[in-house]
Amino acid sequence: MRTGLIKHSQYMEFLRSVPSLQTQPVDVLSKLADVLEETHYSDGDYIIRQGATGDTFFIISEGQVKVSQQNSVNEEPVYLNTLSKGEWFGEQALKGEDVRMASVTAVDDVTCLVIDRESFKQLIGGLDEVNNKQYESDELKAKVEAEAVFFSS
Ligand code: CMP
Repeated sequence: MRTGLIKHSQYMEFLRSVPSLQTQPVDVLSKLADVLEETHYSDGDYIIRQGATGDTFFIISEGQVKVSQQNSVNEEPVYLNTLSKGEWFGEQALKGEDVRMASVTAVDDVTCLVIDRESFKQLIGGLDEVNNKQYESDELKAKVEAEAVFFSS
């Protein structure tokens, strides 16, 4: 379905405010505004499940999400990160491996703008900030913190 004109200009305005997209030309933002799908979540909803295959990239337009990761099936998920309006996630499954590295859940009401794999490749995948995003240090930090809690209890 083609996005209506008013929605389209609202999306454009929002996309222009996203720090990682600020240097993008207007025609790229306009194409993004054309193809994105707005999705809504409630508190605790899974937006992404670790281990699932994934074809979508998410930009948060309202609310906050929590990122967590399970190191093995019988361990509790470890909290890694909170992301807010203007931040994005889901890029890892779109680069090489298509498996989700972590779970992402909604904190209260959340609205995301969702971009499919093909549009991601054409419009976003070239951005260094997205392409070079790595989480090793965060994961390591979470692991070390989890172990610290374990050993102190
Ligand atoms: P993806 O693996 O596709 O799905 C889960 C997403 O969580 C991942 O892409 C990243 O965009 C995001 N994420 C945020 N923080 C982390 C982190 N510390 N480790 C792994 N993924 C993270």
